[in-house]
Amino acid sequence: MHFRVLHFDILDSTNLEALRHARLGAEEGLCVVAKQQTAGRGRRGRSWISRSETGLYLSMLLRPTLDERALPLITLMAAVAVHDVLTESVGLKPDIKWPNDVLVNEKKICGILAESAETPTGLAVVVGIGINLKLPVDEAITASATAIESEGGSVESNALLAAVITSFDRYYEILQTPSGPETVIDDWRQRSTYFSGKEVKAEIENDKNITGMTDGLEANGALRIRTPDGEIHAIHAGDVTGLRRL
Ligand code: BTN
Repeated sequence: MHFRVLHFDILDSTNLEALRHARLGAEEGLCVVAKQQTAGRGRRGRSWISRSETGLYLSMLLRPTLDERALPLITLMAAVAVHDVLTESVGLKPDIKWPNDVLVNEKKICGILAESAETPTGLAVVVGIGINLKLPVDEAITASATAIESEGGSVESNALLAAVITSFDRYYEILQTPSGPETVIDDWRQRSTYFSGKEVKAEIENDKNITGMTDGLEANGALRIRTPDGEIHAIHAGDVTGLRRL
């Protein structure tokens, strides 16, 4: 894919900017990067704190021609791509928490938010990636978040951006091959301790919780959870937390 990178000092959100370009007809491969976001967006309506130069904030515009059922795999694939970068270019040992949080030492280092829109030139999917470079001095966040600097990694932000784009491009190409969906699920399995045999609590819609053991992914990326009664629940959206046995 041909990438065109647009750099900004400050934006409301790189996802919103990429969506605005998409509605004006921008092609696949547009990559919006900002040093700071004033309204960074997270999953499930949350905000993503994006102070100046403490994170890498970027959004890629895609125009996927994939089967509709494979669209959720784009976010899993993005997590696989970031996992490889943090491993190979930064020297960390990351994990992936379903669906697409990248963790180091069980704390979140990267969040991914895919948003889609119908535009005059067809479906647009924007994949936003936020990687923590440094942690703000804010105790509330540090309990569950970490950053490259806090984990002893070192990488220059432009080099990190280039590595993320290269890795993302590689896995997006793979996803579009006939066996791409199975390959991406297998790549995700190899990098995530959440794939199977992990005791988790999943918070799904309307504050409903499901507690059980993870049991693989469905072909569309949904997480299978086996509850103590032996029933399998496929979770398509929600927050998953690993439970520790006492
Ligand atoms: C999450 O874990 O809740 C997803 C966070 C995604 C944050 C990134 S930062 C770059 C891009 N622009 C946004 O507004 N959000 C994503």
